[in-house]
Amino acid sequence: MNVFELLQSRRAIRNYENKEVEREKIERLLEAATLAPNDRMREPWSFFVIQGEAKTRYEQLAFEYLQERFPTKPHLVESSIKVVKQTPVMIAVTSDILPKEADSKDNEYAVCCAIHSMWLAAQELNLGFVWRTRGVGLVHDNRLHKFIGAPENKKMIGMVFIGYPDKKELEEEKNKKRTPFKEKTVWL
Ligand SMILES: Cc1cc2nc3c(=O)[nH]c(=O)nc-3n(C[C@H](O)[C@H](O)[C@H](O)COP(=O)(O)O)c2cc1C
Repeated sequence: MNVFELLQSRRAIRNYENKEVEREKIERLLEAATLAPNDRMREPWSFFVIQGEAKTRYEQLAFEYLQERFPTKPHLVESSIKVVKQTPVMIAVTSDILPKEADSKDNEYAVCCAIHSMWLAAQELNLGFVWRTRGVGLVHDNRLHKFIGAPENKKMIGMVFIGYPDKKELEEEKNKKRTPFKEKTVWL
């Protein structure tokens, strides 16, 4: 697949087959991430792989968070937890915080690039992938930070969910429309 085909066919996939993701494939994704561009080669990313027993603990954490956040929506809590249960592997990705705000921002941008690289690599490896920040992503809740045991100088950027894609979802998501670049571009 060339880069344009890869970009065109990449999709957010949120449903997965009941099948483990091989360690080698997870490592390939992490390797792809570390190839991303980054300012002054600070390589500001760290990855926290959550699977197996750690994922069971994460489910409990997500359950507590969602119950607090949506006390009147038990169905939403239930369906969200089901998503976590059905996801074979999750990776929390952080960015190094530096004394200068501008440097920290650049680090965050680099980590976003790294996540996108993983996303494309997942596509190449026939894996489904989604970057989550809201809901079960827990990115904006400090509990996730504590859960992964990250030091204070790391900022949570994303939680990525990975698994072999549910074929139906893959098919449905195939032809998602994008606004043409002409409507988003000013030529000066
Ligand atoms: C920074 C970021 C945060 C996102 N957070 C979520 C999320 O919390 N939950 C979710 O289901 N999808 C999330 N997504 C995935 C987007 O919803 C998805 O990429 C968008 O709908 C476009 O679809 P596509 O990726 O299939 O082209 C996120 C994507 C990005 C880049």
